[in-house]
Amino acid sequence: MKKVLVTSALPYANGKVHLGHLAGAYLPADIYVRWRRLKGDDVLFICGSDEHGVPITLTALKRGCTPQEVVDEFHKANGEAFAAADVKFDIWGRTSSPEHHAVTREFFTRLLNAGHIDRREIQQYYSEKSKMFLPDRYIVGTCPKCGYAEARGDQCDNCGGTYEVAELAGPRCALPGDDSTPVLKPSLHWFLKLDDFQKRLEEFLAAHGEGTPDQWRLNALRGAQGWLKAGLRARCITRDTTWGVRIPLDDPATEGKRLYVWFDAPIGYVTFTQQLFTQRGSPEAWREYWQNPDCPIIHFIGKDNIPFHCITFPAMLAGVNDTPVPGQSAYRLPTAVVANEFLNFGGEKGSKSKGNAVEIGAFVEKYGAEALRYYITAIAPEDADSNFTWEDFAHRYNGELADILGNFVHRVLTFTVNKLGRRVPEPGELGPHQAFVGETATALSTTAALLDGFQFRNALATVLNCARAGNVYFDTNAPWKSLKTDTAECNRVLYACLGRVAAIGLLLRPFLLRSSAAILQNFGVTEPFAPGSAGLRPEDIVKPGLLLGKPEVLFKKLEPKDLPSGQ
Ligand code: 2FM
Ligand code: ZN
Repeated sequence: MKKVLVTSALPYANGKVHLGHLAGAYLPADIYVRWRRLKGDDVLFICGSDEHGVPITLTALKRGCTPQEVVDEFHKANGEAFAAADVKFDIWGRTSSPEHHAVTREFFTRLLNAGHIDRREIQQYYSEKSKMFLPDRYIVGTCPKCGYAEARGDQCDNCGGTYEVAELAGPRCALPGDDSTPVLKPSLHWFLKLDDFQKRLEEFLAAHGEGTPDQWRLNALRGAQGWLKAGLRARCITRDTTWGVRIPLDDPATEGKRLYVWFDAPIGYVTFTQQLFTQRGSPEAWREYWQNPDCPIIHFIGKDNIPFHCITFPAMLAGVNDTPVPGQSAYRLPTAVVANEFLNFGGEKGSKSKGNAVEIGAFVEKYGAEALRYYITAIAPEDADSNFTWEDFAHRYNGELADILGNFVHRVLTFTVNKLGRRVPEPGELGPHQAFVGETATALSTTAALLDGFQFRNALATVLNCARAGNVYFDTNAPWKSLKTDTAECNRVLYACLGRVAAIGLLLRPFLLRSSAAILQNFGVTEPFAPGSAGLRPEDIVKPGLLLGKPEVLFKKLEPKDLPSGQ
């Protein structure tokens, strides 16, 4: 079996995940993982909480609790939200775990030993009142780009601009109870010399450039090329905070400092894979994925994570390989970085502070995982930002899932049950109906190719089109008429339609698990998701004479009262 490693960006345990997150890095990854398992591959799906970072300490300060309490709460809540959406990771790890701290320290030490990390003195804001250095997030001031007076230290919520904290006009401390004016003081920090990797990353990226067989999606490719073109520079990988992974050095200058969250977070993918195999009783087997040139590594992320996954993390892996460990193979670099654009809400980026985003758990509770997975995939922001609106959700749910897909499946099955004694008819020679059967086969291969190419929105659209064309075919051929005049013709039409229904059941497997299982169980398929069953064809399961089960209504239509008021 071919090994494949799939990761989804580790969400910060500093708030509840919402539909925007799901659309970016989790649902497409889950669909892809399920698809490759159907194809018979040995796939690992790795994710977990990103539990460090200064914003988490700010939440804790505001709440008057510890950072650990904050991450405990959101690690649990977000794990439950993904489960509710039928997004099923092999492991849901945590970067605050001692195992992760140990792996991160090992990465730091190997990079240091290879000469890729050095120590530099920088000017850092300091609060005389609180007697502490202030990470950028602990500073507010006037945005140098738009003049907004409440801009954060490193990014402006008003214009979205990013800048160096020293560029902020009128800086103020943002600690609860401390709005003093900070002063700049020298502070020692550690830097990852990204410039060491310029040439290697240029070669790495060239292997995924336009026109290559392993070409990346353009957003990731262009983003990474932009960084390389500008020339890679050393990046500070430590922060003035006591929440995070300790700097593994016997040096008093490390006091009150921790590794930057973006240094440790991607290492989480490695840690969690190790933890998974420790749980499974083969603690060394993680190497068969991370240190195996034949195992593709595929990262699913949102577009804001592109530089970290296309430049920084590959540089870290390459740098660690510069201190080889006898008997161990080198880490391989990612095969693909599948970056999505943003799913916005009412035209705006979903944000915790604005409270405009829709939470996953709440949505599933009301409309179910199938509606969620359908709608989010149908509007997936694969090549441009897209927009969630309740109106569009209701429109697509009723107009596509209920009226087109659900209706086709239901009318074909109920006709067979009510008019043909529940049995799949014997079609004889299909004659002109062979064309419709051929289109069903084409839909199967088209969807497979789209899934292989990470085009989930188009893949799902192909399934819907299959049902749409099925309805037209059913109406045009009017089997309720031929039933009375030409039973053989009626049988041919129903046989072709039942094949299409079965194909829809098969095609829906990676997307809508419950609906797929419900459709296929009419044909007695009890293990629709069996590994390696991607090649199953309608003719394998729609056998003349087969007694069908009792069909159920797949999607009950939504009424205005089912939607949030005012929609
Ligand atoms: O943007 C985010 O939500 C980050 N927490 C993603 C981290 S991805 C990985 F590197 F861990
Ligand atoms: Zn601004």
